[in-house]
Amino acid sequence: MSTVLVGYGSIEGQTRKISRRVAQKVEAMGHQAVLYDLSEKHDDAEWPNPDAVIIGAPIHEHHFPAAVKRYLKAHSDRLKELPGMFLSVSLGAMSDDEGDKADLRKLCQDFAKSVHWASIEVHQIPGALRYTEYNFFKRFILQQIMRAAGGPTDTHQDYEFTKWDELDDIVEGFVKRELDEKAVA
Ligand SMILES: Cc1cc2nc3c(=O)[nH]c(=O)nc-3n(C[C@H](O)[C@H](O)[C@H](O)COP(=O)(O)O)c2cc1C
Repeated sequence: MSTVLVGYGSIEGQTRKISRRVAQKVEAMGHQAVLYDLSEKHDDAEWPNPDAVIIGAPIHEHHFPAAVKRYLKAHSDRLKELPGMFLSVSLGAMSDDEGDKADLRKLCQDFAKSVHWASIEVHQIPGALRYTEYNFFKRFILQQIMRAAGGPTDTHQDYEFTKWDELDDIVEGFVKRELDEKAVA
């Protein structure tokens, strides 16, 4: 049995939900998942000595949370030695536009470089729109963005775009490739 560190930062809650699902999938495959909210302080003595790491972070105003960046930078020496996967959570992940896709790839590459983890495997995960939980300002901004993108604009309800089965498949592929097959080899 291997240990997977499932670290995340989440501002509105969707990346937390996604990371919990990731941890459940890892455990369903017979491994141990250690779920870390990277915005909380973690004592180095608690380091779970993982065999692999899966990090989830949402895009807000074209940036990933500073707390995730800080954590990854502080632990980059250890992390870059491990098989790793980065789950970038956003609404842009739903777009079929090649320009939008290229922008997302560039944002993720720049982020990975900035935390000295240039070789990490990256996946784009569609997040959620929680209109009913946003304050007036956020609701207005997100509605404008959705109007321009042809997305939902009814602010009386929330929308979850995460494709849970696809997420399970991504995690399953990673765990098989990086842990199960390497253990056999
Ligand atoms: C204020 C705000 C700004 C956002 N900015 C972006 C953005 O620049 N690009 C994007 O693709 N998605 C953007 N989103 C969408 C979020 O990435 C999406 O809602 C995601 O599910 C948030 O994850 P979280 O709930 O873990 O914070 C934004 C959402 C909010 C509320």
